[in-house]
Amino acid sequence: MARPDWTDLKALERVPLTKLFADDPERLALFTADVAGIHFDWSKTHLSREAVERFAALADAMGLAAKRDALFAGDVVNATEGRAAEHSAERYEGAAESVARAKAQHERMRALIDAIEAEALGPVRHILHIGIGGSALGPELLVDALGRDAARYDVAIVSNVDGMALEAAMDEFDPKATLLAIASKTFTTTETMLNAESAIAWMAEGGVSDPYGQVVALTASPEKAVAWGVDETRILPFSESVGGRYSLWSSIGFPAALALGWDAFAELLEGAAEMDRHFRLTPTRRNAPVLAAFADLYYTQLRGAETRGVFAYDERLALLPSYLQQLEMESNGKRVTAEGAPVEWPTAPITWGGVGTDAQHAVFQLLHQGTHLVPVEFLGVVEQEDVLSEAHHRQLLLNMFAQGAALMAGRANDDAARAYPGDRPSSTLLLDRLDPRTLGALLAFYEHRTFVNAVLTGINPFDQFGVELGKEMAKAADAGDLDFDPSTNDLIARALGA
Ligand code: F6P
Repeated sequence: MARPDWTDLKALERVPLTKLFADDPERLALFTADVAGIHFDWSKTHLSREAVERFAALADAMGLAAKRDALFAGDVVNATEGRAAEHSAERYEGAAESVARAKAQHERMRALIDAIEAEALGPVRHILHIGIGGSALGPELLVDALGRDAARYDVAIVSNVDGMALEAAMDEFDPKATLLAIASKTFTTTETMLNAESAIAWMAEGGVSDPYGQVVALTASPEKAVAWGVDETRILPFSESVGGRYSLWSSIGFPAALALGWDAFAELLEGAAEMDRHFRLTPTRRNAPVLAAFADLYYTQLRGAETRGVFAYDERLALLPSYLQQLEMESNGKRVTAEGAPVEWPTAPITWGGVGTDAQHAVFQLLHQGTHLVPVEFLGVVEQEDVLSEAHHRQLLLNMFAQGAALMAGRANDDAARAYPGDRPSSTLLLDRLDPRTLGALLAFYEHRTFVNAVLTGINPFDQFGVELGKEMAKAADAGDLDFDPSTNDLIARALGA
């Protein structure tokens, strides 16, 4: 049974960042990498040559290479659910059979997109995408990051069961010109099914004679979609072995593929595939997802960091922290090993973040002078895409670089309130541009980094039983089983009169 032994790593000498730079003239070259249009810089983390060697030894002991091969081979890597985790096959990197299946499913999606473009389903102007968790966060990020100028349709992604969320979309859209995309791997998620029913009712009330004729289902449970009323020809299936939070590459990405065009979606897949190949074939010490995970583990395991902050200095990546929250926390927020034994070390830190420069004026006080150690990740994009003067882009990026430098350098002051301790870690991801290909590579990087973190902490990143209990209790309450604890019973009675 694989349990990580942190002894050697915990014995590492604690060297301040400025000394790490002073002691090693090659530091910048050693702790940076360029992959698929992204420049990665971990030089302002406390990773040292020695730390990397010890993490590499731990990776060997935990069987990282074999586990990575098993992931790409489509073996059962999610033991608790007896499943493979074949998101890379959706990028055509994986077991031949799975890749062939993904290609056929993509072809089906492409044909439906062609038909919609040709108005075979009537004139479509709006896409109302209903889904939650992994069935919403990925497509929403894609559309927001890439579709601000380029979207060919209006897209609303509604996830919350709060009626306000659906109402907002309904207010904007003409039901007769709306395509309803219902995204649910299981096609049983209560929020999604209720929102979908209400959307159908809205269409009927809005004069659509056959609302189901305007529905597309994105699901791994096609038979449930048929039973719900979706025509078989408009079901875009994906494989059961693609996890919800890893599913934007599958038909779950449909609203992005339709809004941005098929070529953009194909490029997204290609960018991700490039990162897949990098992860699969690059030696540990130059491997971007592996080094990033080493830096993550340095802080969670050796320095007691309980959170990690992600700050994109680009409005188009505003949704990245939410997307990463599900990817990282639903994957690695575990308390037992892959074999079911309790872990005696931390697992996933809490992922949080925001956009720069806004976050500087809200939460950065704590990063510079607070009592928490927060490893920070900055993301910036070299190519300016706004049409305003260069001054905006220049200020944006210079602010990002200044924050990283300030966190590391600190500044002494006789007045303690005005002193900055420094030696606070950050890493920087600099994207050449924010296009589908680079975004694909970026998101695949995060997936693989999450996987490496899981392997080195000995947990299964592909199940998510933690989300079930509350769901079951809400369902039971809805069915009339209101026998909770006294406080909850009281709250229910006050709020709902039940
Ligand atoms: O509640 C968590 C979860 O199961 C996620 O893992 C998933 O992405 C989300 O619900 C939505 O599930 P589905 O796509 O089956 O509706």
